[in-house]
Amino acid sequence: MNNVLSIHQFDTKKIEEILSRSGELESMYEKGNLPELLKGKVVACIFFEPSTRTRLSFETAALRLGAQVISAENANGSSSAFKGETMEDTGRMLSAYADAVVMRHPTEGSLSRAASVSTVPFLNAGDGSKEHPTQALLDLYTIKKEKGRLDNLSIVFVGDLVYGRTVHSLIPALSSYEGNTFTFVSPESLKLPDEYKNGISYTETDSLEETIASADVVYMTRVQKERFADVSEYEKVKDVFVFKKEHLQKMKDDAILMHPLPRVGEIDPEVDSDSRAAYFRQAKNGLFVRMALLLYVFGV
Ligand code: NCD
Repeated sequence: MNNVLSIHQFDTKKIEEILSRSGELESMYEKGNLPELLKGKVVACIFFEPSTRTRLSFETAALRLGAQVISAENANGSSSAFKGETMEDTGRMLSAYADAVVMRHPTEGSLSRAASVSTVPFLNAGDGSKEHPTQALLDLYTIKKEKGRLDNLSIVFVGDLVYGRTVHSLIPALSSYEGNTFTFVSPESLKLPDEYKNGISYTETDSLEETIASADVVYMTRVQKERFADVSEYEKVKDVFVFKKEHLQKMKDDAILMHPLPRVGEIDPEVDSDSRAAYFRQAKNGLFVRMALLLYVFGV
């Protein structure tokens, strides 16, 4: 049984297989001849944290492949977790009803607890601030599609590098390719934890301006308000880095600007019309990568 719990379970060979499958699915989807490979399957999406793109792209991916979907959004308030049910019992029950489970939870480790007792595959749709493997794969798909390669890139990560789970999953994936160099731009209190820096080539700075000119990929992130114990600490850093129209002039012609979304001010909407602004294309790519991941867990 194939789960998707962590980006660390995928080596570059497996990543390439998933990206190539995503490309095939995108092309079939665009031509209107996507086969109903998941007909008869039921996919459960249970989200204990807010989501727009991740949940809805997973649900759309399942539906477009012919599966049926059951869904619990706001599961903290609307599922039996509210009554105090353990993750193990929730996992056991979901696996009794559905053929695969997509889950997001604010507490690190919850996904593995639920998956450990499940008889059906689990897909991690965000696990605290630790992991967001399906986002990392759609980010890789986007970079490959836009830049033509996943190696020898200069990637600049900007913003909340302490709590941003998309960054925590994307860095290890990119670092498994040769020649990638990383620049981490954040205020002191949001610096990337050391555990993500092992064995990679990186520099750290608190100046966005000085990093833009040499970047192949600029990856902006939202400051994760919901992870701050003290809201006044959030207020101090929430608007520190904003990518504005004037920054585009410094960017290479073939560089791209990414963001996992939602943005809450980190990218000025004036930037959206520039062809290097890739974040809406990035979000759409989630549909194809999540189709590929559903097929992967079902072994189809
Ligand atoms: C991200 C997440 O949930 O970690 N959103 C997403 O899945 N695209 C990023 C964020 O919420 O800032």
